[in-house]
Amino acid sequence: MRKPLIAGNWKMHGSKSQVKALIEGIKQGADGFAEIDILVLPTFVHLAEAKTLLDASAIMLGAQNLYPGTQGAFTGEVAGPMLADLGCDYVLIGHSERRTLFHEDLALIAAKFKAAIEAGLKPILCVGETRDQREHGETVRVISEQIQSVIEAAGIEAFRQAVIAYEPVWAIGTGLTATPEQAQEVHAYIRQLLSQINVDIGKTIRILYGGSMKAENASSLLAMADIDGGLIGGASLDAASFLKICAAAMPMDNSVQKAKVN
Ligand code: 13P
Repeated sequence: MRKPLIAGNWKMHGSKSQVKALIEGIKQGADGFAEIDILVLPTFVHLAEAKTLLDASAIMLGAQNLYPGTQGAFTGEVAGPMLADLGCDYVLIGHSERRTLFHEDLALIAAKFKAAIEAGLKPILCVGETRDQREHGETVRVISEQIQSVIEAAGIEAFRQAVIAYEPVWAIGTGLTATPEQAQEVHAYIRQLLSQINVDIGKTIRILYGGSMKAENASSLLAMADIDGGLIGGASLDAASFLKICAAAMPMDNSVQKAKVN
């Protein structure tokens, strides 16, 4: 059974007071959601405060990035063991904003993925095609390259600890969402890609959808057989919207989830 995971990527948003209000709001509403995993990913500077605020709740904490290596002369960077030490469970790797704005290439992303595993963190490997690549029929090639390069560097077994997030670049922050069918097609492809190498990992790995997921479209996306949760940007900054997406991921809310029991 793949437990749904709803993750809020807060990107570069939030003040101390906003983080406090958001976490308190999510905590208040999250009590009934034992059948799903909930994760928040604040900025580095808010992680320690977020950990304290999350306290004994079941909501998990993650970071948006790390630098490979354990320590050293890398001014401004943060290492995996530091995140683990703070109480982080997860870390985003290869988000499209990092690939594009910060020129992270396949080799660096693979090194970051490995570093996350070595630090005991669960990497959420983000993959996705641009609009141009989709229009040129390159979606499968791009996704395959983004995943294969990590498998080559880190080995398939590392994916037992990992989550994959399919985030079509054209749907991020644009209000455009992949249709449930478009997303399902890519999710099924990703699962098949991993299954070809290791059937068990292919069956059990969680594949999240990200890209303008919100309360209004979450149910139809989450109903698809290979969509195991969401990586939410904008809609995760409002506790009520985020909780509505969590509600849409609850198995009882969604009869198709039952079909996800392998
Ligand atoms: P939006 O939900 O704002 O489109 O962002 C998606 C995303 O990039 C999550 O990582």
